[in-house]
Amino acid sequence: SLERFGRVQALQTQRKFASTLTAIKDETETANTEAKQCSTFQSMQEERRERAERSVLISCPPKFNESKFLKLLSTHGTVKKYFFYHNSTTNAVVEFSSRNSIASLMESTRLPSGSSIPFKSRLMSLKWPDTQSPLRKVKLQDLTPPTPLDTIKKLSKKNSIDEQLQCLMDIYQLTEESISLRYLVCSLLGDLAGVYFPQSVIRPFGSTVNGLGRLGCDLDMILDLNGTYEGSQKRSSPHLEYQVKMALSERAMVQTILSVIARCLEKFGPGFGGVESIPHARCPIVRFSHETSGLSCDLTLNTFGMKSSELLFLYGQLDPRVRPLLFAVRFWAQNHGITKVVPGAWITNFSLTLMVLFFLQRRTPAILPTLNQLKDLAGPLDKCVIMNNDCTFVSDLSKISMNNNTETLETLLLEFFEFYATFDFKNLSIDIREEKPQFKPEANLFIRNPFEEDLNVSKNVNEKQLSNFVTLCQKCAWISQTQNVLKPLSGSVKEFNSPWGFVALLPEHMYTPVFATLKRKKPSVNITDLFKTLKLTKKTDANEGESVVAD
Ligand code: GTP
Ligand code: MG
Repeated sequence: SLERFGRVQALQTQRKFASTLTAIKDETETANTEAKQCSTFQSMQEERRERAERSVLISCPPKFNESKFLKLLSTHGTVKKYFFYHNSTTNAVVEFSSRNSIASLMESTRLPSGSSIPFKSRLMSLKWPDTQSPLRKVKLQDLTPPTPLDTIKKLSKKNSIDEQLQCLMDIYQLTEESISLRYLVCSLLGDLAGVYFPQSVIRPFGSTVNGLGRLGCDLDMILDLNGTYEGSQKRSSPHLEYQVKMALSERAMVQTILSVIARCLEKFGPGFGGVESIPHARCPIVRFSHETSGLSCDLTLNTFGMKSSELLFLYGQLDPRVRPLLFAVRFWAQNHGITKVVPGAWITNFSLTLMVLFFLQRRTPAILPTLNQLKDLAGPLDKCVIMNNDCTFVSDLSKISMNNNTETLETLLLEFFEFYATFDFKNLSIDIREEKPQFKPEANLFIRNPFEEDLNVSKNVNEKQLSNFVTLCQKCAWISQTQNVLKPLSGSVKEFNSPWGFVALLPEHMYTPVFATLKRKKPSVNITDLFKTLKLTKKTDANEGESVVAD
């Protein structure tokens, strides 16, 4: 029996060992999957950044010889990809296979004569003597957004509102080439910032990376000091510390760094111009343009922007309806003057985006989870705290269960208008973190900052701008419910009949050049009253319907 006891013990130990092994294996697998998934957004950014570091931007003459140009570049290494685009001049983005090629190319590149400031960057000019024929024009990638007229024509040819919204996103979203160019501009700026902070990285954020970027949108960048600024952790063991200049506060440190970079950009940065420092904004920024790419740029040090971009990207990936709906609402609001490119008392694209996400969380069944639900699903590698604010949320999409909401884009768009036409802005806040309605702490429109809980991202919005938004939502809800505009009129050339679907909800000046005769009745009385009568009629109809069933 002793022997049996021994065998049982050995078996138990073996089992224990096996289960420990399985647990370790499971944990490792989970960690690996998490590392893999966690890095989806980040690894995408890293991959693009690394490609940008192997790239150069070259201004070319209107005519030259493409194959000879490539031959010239190939003497420095393998050209992996290249494309041309037009912005005042023809320009080439050239990606080499290796960074060594860049070093070799820069070695052979000359400084122009005259009293030029000898800052050598990866922005170059191709000089092509006329004698080097044959000269030809090259094929150009179009990086500019379609004109409003083209947009209206394209949308009008579609067969449903769902198709229209999909088409709008397809023709406006950033192309692969436009994203590459944006990363290259970040990388060029990174070379300048690297002169002062060698470990720093310039990262794009906002609509360049959140999946909502439109051709022609601005380029938001973060100067990520990447460990340069580590904060003050007390250590008991002997260690060395850098001697540094101290700033009065973190804000003062940000202002100082940005002002130096602004000055350096202005004086030494080839291709950068129109530099304007805005140090006293809540979030200090430097604004400038990059002439060769035609991009308007904003540079900041605020790392929350990266996290909110990742969150918007994630929400956009969770359901195929999210991005087309967001593109449509952002396009609609921009053209109606609800959002504007200049700062002011109006709703910003970021606020509007949060409003759409909030609306999608409120559908039955919900199309999107709340931020708190995303936080509950987070793994250990997702943990993220920025300046004492918990910014943790899951990054592994497979952990989020699919919703079973089957509403069409058309329904969602029209319900969006109805939702905000009747939303209790007076008492409630818009908070994408919470499942339950939240009462708001202040008088203004209150859209809670997803990560800095006490902050209202729409603090700037005044009564009048909110009222414009609500009235426009009421008008669109009214038009779509009373005017026969949701479907195209039948006819051989649909697009020339009259505005319909999403087009009919855009401002008239956008579609009048396309449609010769406008058949739609314009509401001449107060739209809020009209909307109320509509709601009343709907209620009476519903009640009548109920009584018929009850009878
Ligand atoms: P467009 O540039 O208009 O295409 O959209 P965008 O999403 O890039 O917006 P914008 O350039 O105005 O802002 C860039 C990013 O900064 C946004 O995506 C947000 O992450 C962040 N952001 C913008 N406005 C606010 C704000 O009021 N509060 C906070 N916390 N972040 C903001
Ligand atoms: Mg932007």
